[in-house]
Amino acid sequence: MTPSDVKATLSFSDGSPAMDLPVYKGSVGPDVIDIRKLYAQTGKFTYDPGFLSTAACQSSITYIDGDKGELLYRGYPIEQLATNCDYLETCYLLLNGELPNETQKKDFTGLVTNHTMVNEQMQFFLRGFRRDAHPMAVMTGLVGGLSAFYHDSTDINNPEHREISAIRLIAKMPTLVAMAYKYGIGQPYIYPKNELSYAANFTRMMFATPCEDYTPNDVVVRALDRIFILHADHEQNASTSTVRLCGSSGTNPFAAIAAGVACLWGPAHGGANEAALTMLEDIQRAGGVEKIGEFIKQVKDKNSGIKLMGFGHRVYKNYDPRAKLMRETCHEVLDALGLQNDPLFKLAMALEKIALEDDYFVSRKLYPNVDFYSGIVQRAIGIPVSLFTAIFALARTVGWIAQLNEMIGDPEYKIGRPRQLFNGSVARNIKPIAQR
Ligand code: SDX
Repeated sequence: MTPSDVKATLSFSDGSPAMDLPVYKGSVGPDVIDIRKLYAQTGKFTYDPGFLSTAACQSSITYIDGDKGELLYRGYPIEQLATNCDYLETCYLLLNGELPNETQKKDFTGLVTNHTMVNEQMQFFLRGFRRDAHPMAVMTGLVGGLSAFYHDSTDINNPEHREISAIRLIAKMPTLVAMAYKYGIGQPYIYPKNELSYAANFTRMMFATPCEDYTPNDVVVRALDRIFILHADHEQNASTSTVRLCGSSGTNPFAAIAAGVACLWGPAHGGANEAALTMLEDIQRAGGVEKIGEFIKQVKDKNSGIKLMGFGHRVYKNYDPRAKLMRETCHEVLDALGLQNDPLFKLAMALEKIALEDDYFVSRKLYPNVDFYSGIVQRAIGIPVSLFTAIFALARTVGWIAQLNEMIGDPEYKIGRPRQLFNGSVARNIKPIAQR
């Protein structure tokens, strides 16, 4: 980071000594005020629950401009990556900083392909779950459980361990998600097939059965590959910040990624795609497009506790560029599968149109985010709603790993340990129980 010639001066109205704080510039985006010496010099903390104005790290992986609705992975616009690259190229880019050449892509793809199988013991791990367990509960357990199988790659400070655990996690997530799905529907697991592409392998492990040959549908494979690309990384979102904080203790990569899976599950974060689709289905059941007005009224009523799921974003105060690409994918997939008249897609577009003309949403800069359309695409290709967030976790694993490795690779990193503003009881003495 580059020191800015601008300084920030902090002064206090009670005459406490003022202090100058250094300001640093990145290559693009907001400058930062370095407060690392604030507590030592003033005895005061900053206060920013939810981190609305806090940069927790410096990073060169993903840049978001929320006002422009811009998203770059290592400088490449998401629109170009989604149309010119595949997911494994994007993984290579996020991990290494550059897109692979032909040889690098072939080697990387070969490496990932040859790590897609999981230890046979994993099947017995799954058996401990109820068949109707939510797939994210299963995934949180399975990903954390990987650290029990790979003792040879759990030292996060060893670059070789970081490299092999990255490959293992990227390679095994599709296998684990498919196993969680098959376990839930009582079908046998389908082993990965090395001749298939990453996304085609996933569709086969999801939808094939031992009873007949299965040929992946190219439209479905391309749509899934694009979904993976769009969800691969997203700056310091809640689950990525969780992975960084968890990894900062020196725990192994599998445990840190399992923490990310657990955080992503929340409906305010990665669980929003499942919640958005459930919302659309509820409106559809209640009467469809004519019921949108009534639903929007409930959303505006603070006491209802109802939010328009798939809308709004902490950073995007313009249209989420991923939502635009996801809506395009919706059109492509629904047309290709002969589902042009999918009532839910029509309902979603009607809801989006009404919301974007309504001052409640316009004044709060609430636009559709990546989760608004992703559920419709996934439902159209046969993914059950309960598996949507597990697929988000599959795709985001490479982003979590890239961010974790960037942190561990930074010589300045320390264990994350935020402080607090304490407003509880000051010191007091215990009274004997008879006097309480
Ligand atoms: C993801 O961070 C990332 O990058 C996340 C993500 C990624 O790739 O990692 O992009 C993935 O998590 C996308 C977001 C998915 N979540 C949802 O779609 C759930 C619905 N959205 C909201 O929960 C909300 O918009 C958040 C959580 C996404 C953002 O919340 P903020 O930034 O804390 O904003 P806020 O709650 O302070 O909202 C500001 C105002 C409030 O109203 P007022 O108090 O000003 O009257 O907007 C309202 C909110 O009530 N509001 C909504 C709303 N989102 C915000 N009102 C109705 N419906 C919504 N969806």
